[in-house]
Amino acid sequence: MKSVASLALVAATVPLVRAAGFNLLQNWQGSDFFNNWSYYGNYDNLTNGDAVFVTQAVAEAQPQLTFINGAGNAIVRVDNASTVVYPNKRNTVRLQSVESYGLGSLWVMDAVHLPYGCSVWPAFWSQAAKWPEGEIDTLENVNLALTNQMALHTEDGCTVPSSALMTGTLTDDDCGTDATKTQGCTVTDANQDSYGAAFAAAGGGVYATLLADTGVYIWFFSRANVPSDLSVSNPNSSPNPDGWGEPSGYYPSSTCPTSTFFEDQFIILDITLCGDFAGALDVYNQTCGPIPTEAPTNYCYTTNVIGNGSNYDAAYFEVQYIRVWSNVTTANTTTGSNSTGGGSGSSSGSGGTSGKSSAIPIFTKSAALAALLGIVGAVALLA
Ligand SMILES: *[C@@H]1O[C@H](CO)[C@@H](O)[C@H](O)[C@H]1NC(C)=O
Ligand SMILES: *[C@@H]1O[C@H](CO)[C@@H](O)[C@H](O)[C@H]1NC(C)=O
Ligand SMILES: *[C@@H]1O[C@H](CO)[C@@H](O)[C@H](O)[C@H]1NC(C)=O
Ligand SMILES: *[C@@H]1O[C@H](CO)[C@@H](O)[C@H](O)[C@H]1NC(C)=O
Ligand SMILES: *[C@@H]1O[C@H](CO)[C@@H](O)[C@H](O)[C@H]1NC(C)=O
Ligand SMILES: *[C@@H]1O[C@H](CO)[C@@H](O)[C@H](O)[C@H]1NC(C)=O
Ligand SMILES: *[C@@H]1O[C@H](CO)[C@@H](O)[C@H](O)[C@H]1NC(C)=O
Ligand SMILES: *[C@@H]1O[C@H](CO)[C@@H](O)[C@H](O)[C@H]1NC(C)=O
Repeated sequence: MKSVASLALVAATVPLVRAAGFNLLQNWQGSDFFNNWSYYGNYDNLTNGDAVFVTQAVAEAQPQLTFINGAGNAIVRVDNASTVVYPNKRNTVRLQSVESYGLGSLWVMDAVHLPYGCSVWPAFWSQAAKWPEGEIDTLENVNLALTNQMALHTEDGCTVPSSALMTGTLTDDDCGTDATKTQGCTVTDANQDSYGAAFAAAGGGVYATLLADTGVYIWFFSRANVPSDLSVSNPNSSPNPDGWGEPSGYYPSSTCPTSTFFEDQFIILDITLCGDFAGALDVYNQTCGPIPTEAPTNYCYTTNVIGNGSNYDAAYFEVQYIRVWSNVTTANTTTGSNSTGGGSGSSSGSGGTSGKSSAIPIFTKSAALAALLGIVGAVALLA
């Protein structure tokens, strides 16, 4: 008993995760970056943004919204070259992974620039085929916010204990999505370099999300603190989250069992404009105010989206890589989903009828150790 107790104490300091045996399933990097994504190809009918998520053909034509730059990095941007006249929307991009990833998967983005500016609402996030069977917002905020805000959205019953060990600040502990709830369980990153102009000024950084049976873990590392096992040049290094320290955001399975609340996740990178979050006047005014008393409800749109687009010069992701590792060796493909997107977004539960392929998990040689770590982690969470 004594040894179990002391192991539990260690686990309580640094949450143990099933880190052993990660296999690289997808490396979006360099000239391969724009493969294995679906471009949404429709206006933003998910969050009421004043944006058109263009098709791949439009994104790759002038003015290019997705391309590989001279440094070999992927650019995903808002159109800052076109004049938009009232009442039209402005072109931007929403990418969703073709494959999905379940418990035991780790996805990581290394970026040197994130989109920001008044009306700009970027996100690097994931969701199940059917909403709200689990949504993880790894990176998200709006307008000229200073730090990242993480969140989960789930069926009702998933919560976050105030005791959850994380460096971020828990600002809402209820992840459910009943009629009175829309924002999910939010955590504000403590690091001022996690978003906006400061992110780029610090050389960018890395966002990592681990979906494990012990919980959902999100780490942010500013450039100077990126762990050596997440290097840009070595996709074949084996990441070890147990060495990464306390996560920025942590949602333990003790009050939100991941196996109950999270179906396989599709990874999404998108930028919308105004809409339910960035365009809400009481949100907009926090960093882009003051708002004149006579202002129309579409003030965010009329002030930013229409016009020549010069206020979107900073509204782009510049990404060195997005990688997915898992403790199994095959990703899941959906069958019968529409090429425009699969996911339903956060305003509707009509995510379609995508099914799983009969991917057979191949157990790694570290499976026995991984299982042991999982048991120890579970004991720690109950302690
Ligand atoms: C796309 O996904 C498939 C299936 O996982 C994989 O074999 C292939 O290497 C991926 N393509 C690129 C360019 O990453
Ligand atoms: C959004 O538009 C697409 C394409 O027309 C459609 O398939 C999808 O059902 C729409 N989603 C919502 C939530 O209206
Ligand atoms: C694919 O789906 C199966 C069954 O749901 C799951 O066990 C497996 O972990 C998934 N694969 C990945 C890479 O998430
Ligand atoms: C992978 O990790 C998940 C979640 O932590 C766990 O449920 C599953 O048993 C693991 N699979 C293998 C092959 O280790
Ligand atoms: C923003 O608007 C809300 C609602 O009108 C108001 O309560 C708040 O004080 C305003 N905030 C700022 C910073 O102007
Ligand atoms: C774009 O519009 C802004 C605001 O109206 C103006 O200040 C700027 O000079 C314009 N830029 C160009 C290149 O026309
Ligand atoms: C758009 O912004 C980029 C910087 O992100 C800048 O290099 C480019 O000149 C801008 N395009 C126009 C047409 O102003
Ligand atoms: C694809 O989308 C169309 C239009 O929204 C819908 O009628 C159709 O059922 C969808 N197909 C599948 C396989 O989801």
